[in-house]
Amino acid sequence: MAKAVVDFPPGPSKFSPKLLRQLSREPIKTLSDLVKEYGEIVYFKIGRGQIYLINNPDYIEKILIYNYKNFKKGKRLQTAKRLLGEGLVTSEGTKHDNQRKIVHPLFLPKKISSYGQIVVDKATQMHQQWIDGSIIDIHKEMMNVTLKIICKSIMDYEIDSEEAIKFSSALEFSKKYFKRLQHPIGHILDHFEILPEVSKSRESIKTLDSIVYQLIIDRKKISSTKILKPNSPRNQEEDLLSRLLQAQFTSNNNLQDDQGNHVKGDKVNTTSSPRPMTNQEIRDNVITMLIAGHETTSNAITWTYYLLSQSPEIEQKMFEEIDSILSEVQNNGSKVYRNPTVKDIPKLKYIEKIFRESMRIYPPVWSIGRLVEDDYLVDKYTIPKGSSIIMSQYVMHHNDKYYDRPNEFNPDRWTDEFKRHLPRFSYFPFGGGLRGCIGESFAWQEGILMIASVSSHWKLELVPNQNIKMDPGITLNPKNGIRMKLISRSN
Ligand code: HEM
Repeated sequence: MAKAVVDFPPGPSKFSPKLLRQLSREPIKTLSDLVKEYGEIVYFKIGRGQIYLINNPDYIEKILIYNYKNFKKGKRLQTAKRLLGEGLVTSEGTKHDNQRKIVHPLFLPKKISSYGQIVVDKATQMHQQWIDGSIIDIHKEMMNVTLKIICKSIMDYEIDSEEAIKFSSALEFSKKYFKRLQHPIGHILDHFEILPEVSKSRESIKTLDSIVYQLIIDRKKISSTKILKPNSPRNQEEDLLSRLLQAQFTSNNNLQDDQGNHVKGDKVNTTSSPRPMTNQEIRDNVITMLIAGHETTSNAITWTYYLLSQSPEIEQKMFEEIDSILSEVQNNGSKVYRNPTVKDIPKLKYIEKIFRESMRIYPPVWSIGRLVEDDYLVDKYTIPKGSSIIMSQYVMHHNDKYYDRPNEFNPDRWTDEFKRHLPRFSYFPFGGGLRGCIGESFAWQEGILMIASVSSHWKLELVPNQNIKMDPGITLNPKNGIRMKLISRSN
């Protein structure tokens, strides 16, 4: 009998070390070039791995929404388990679905609005310390402030303490190291603990773990002594830690904490909690949420300020919107700004467009990967089980089929009419479906309030002679940060 002929989509025919090098050095440019040369479905090989690059919104919609069960998270995220464990981003199947159910109430609209004041408070604390004429690295500032915001919002945890600074730098190092692991021989080098980078990475994870486990133990103590009152400020009964702990307490009354001490569980209604969580799972979910919840938003806001610094007319229009909504002229003619609130968000329409356009040009998560569980048909091609799929937001968002002059920063393109006609997955900074971003509304709120708060008081000017480059890890960082000169708007 004749062998079935497998039809491969177009692409570079054989595995070439040159392609591997290009992909590891300049992944975004390489993927963009492949799509330009070969079209909406591109096939190539990396070693024995078969890769399908998909750049058609309808196919992406099917993969992420309708047929999502046929896919697992991609290879890069498998490596991320070293740091993230099996939390919401990296777990699969029932484990993922259970965790998503537990965390979901933290992201309901009413809950999200309650985080708005935290964003404005932390933004204000940050920019009140800025000095007119001085130079800051906007990326560093945003990384710090968004970490403070996520810790306070979802765990009522103030990250200003000395311990928290340790946490920040351990997290930074772990992320850098994780990026090294993505290198073709990164996982081999990782076995050699005598290498300083490897042993430092182990130390960093230990530091993160010890802080998170301490948070868990402290919270257990508070819960068990009932110090917590339902109406206490920022009601910890409904934050990330308490939800994860309640899920553990519901069906296990004889738990041990991390030091092996006996801990009595509360009797809580069990119907909404699918099964108990282990301490390791709690740790994994806390770390996951902190990383997923701050690096992405900080990159989005950083790139927004870079783009604004390159577009004075757009920046001026933004100042005018802020002035019309947040400023008041005093009797002596001076202008004062009140802090933005969540109620102002629907009025801050131009800032919303700016933020949307910025995430089009610099999508903070620039690609999504999946592993194929069972043979899967796309167009006329069967993608075999075990293959990898890549869908790149960056490549899609720069497709001139959907975006006129795609490299141009043009917030005005986002009219209601334009949005209505855009295929759903031609713009997907937050992914989609049951593995889509749980923090999407959190991120929109944070971005808009942060920009409104900072830009009420400051204009940020790009320091000349910098080579601004993208550094695509799991998220799209600016390489070497972005230095900006602060100009007070009250002058
Ligand atoms: C501009 C900001 C953000 C962007 C662009 C972004 C983007 C994304 C994307 C693309 C995914 C899906 C990845 C995939 O399908 O493989 C995702 C998942 C996720 N995001 Fe976000 N995110 C942002 C902010 C946040 C925030 C603020 C939080 C938490 C407060 C968060 C928590 C998560 C979690 C937990 C997941 C995994 C969801 C699951 O698998 O069930 N993200 N994010």
